[in-house]
Amino acid sequence: MKIRAGVLEHGFARLMREAQCGERMDREGEIHNGFCIAHDGVLDYVDLQKHTGGSSVLVYGQTELTRDLYEARDRLGGKVVHNAEDVTPHDIDSGAPFVTYRVGGETMRVDCDYVIGADGFHGVSRKSIPADKLREYERVYPFGWLGVLSRTKPVSPDLIYVKHERGFALCSLRSQVLSRYYIQVPLTDKVDDWSDDAFWAELKRRLPVEVAERLITGPSIEKSIAPLRSYVAEPMRYGRLFLAGDAAHIVPPTGARGLNSAASDIYYLYHALLDHYQNGDDRGLDGYSARALARVWKAQRFSWWMTMLLHRFPDRLAYDDMLQQTDMAYLLSSESALRSLAENYVGLPF
Ligand code: DHB
Repeated sequence: MKIRAGVLEHGFARLMREAQCGERMDREGEIHNGFCIAHDGVLDYVDLQKHTGGSSVLVYGQTELTRDLYEARDRLGGKVVHNAEDVTPHDIDSGAPFVTYRVGGETMRVDCDYVIGADGFHGVSRKSIPADKLREYERVYPFGWLGVLSRTKPVSPDLIYVKHERGFALCSLRSQVLSRYYIQVPLTDKVDDWSDDAFWAELKRRLPVEVAERLITGPSIEKSIAPLRSYVAEPMRYGRLFLAGDAAHIVPPTGARGLNSAASDIYYLYHALLDHYQNGDDRGLDGYSARALARVWKAQRFSWWMTMLLHRFPDRLAYDDMLQQTDMAYLLSSESALRSLAENYVGLPF
């Protein structure tokens, strides 16, 4: 299974509780009141609580969240179909859409009031919208992240985002016995190019000395390279199909907005559907795309900004390198800039 980020905005945590899925998250999740930025050999602490007036984030793995959601679905007696093939939405611009899929050689049909396309970037939902009805915005970055998961004590109780002339690095964690580390690598690199030893050596080079000295290494239990991409498709509704999460938008991982942006889409949709079915009020459904996109774009802006602040961009103007350096110097010297960072990191209001 792919290992994904595990930094939850407080709004997301609230949504899990509202859906009565938050018990284990509250028991096992770790509250983080700040994080570190390493740059030029020094370590600075960004105090989220101080700069937001008391907010924080929760570190809880996405794989754990998925388990909790499946269990909640089971408790409700909900039906989850696995290994469905040829999933196809039909007549989504009519009043009677339906979805077909094949499972075990049999074709099944589900008649729907609405179809929610929460099937990821490569899913069929977005692709079933006519191309001339969709506007796409995209930016690809000229590097990827090589990530390693290891059963070792994390080097720091706080996340450390590292800006270094050899490239970005991130020290993260899933628990006090499970570490997650990343380093920026060229897009041409393959996972097999990186032995565990080579990974640890490169990570150490990018960390401030006192952090590198503390780093406990061990065998990787997962290792993969992810490219970085920003992407938005508009609108997020076509007829009776509503797109949510990665089906409509992708962020680069820097700042951990991906899962959180999907959660705010679902929050808007959930309340829109409640208003429709309980009160006959369609304003939420009609306004969904505009409302979701307004927040999606703010997450895009923040993820782009964090990415630009922390990575090494090969082959660019020395002028741009100086602006990046100045961006960092300004951030760490300005209460207002730190407040803006913290406000975005803990999550803008839904
Ligand atoms: C993780 C990933 C991120 O992109 C981030 O900003 C913080 C943490 C993670 O995988 O733990």
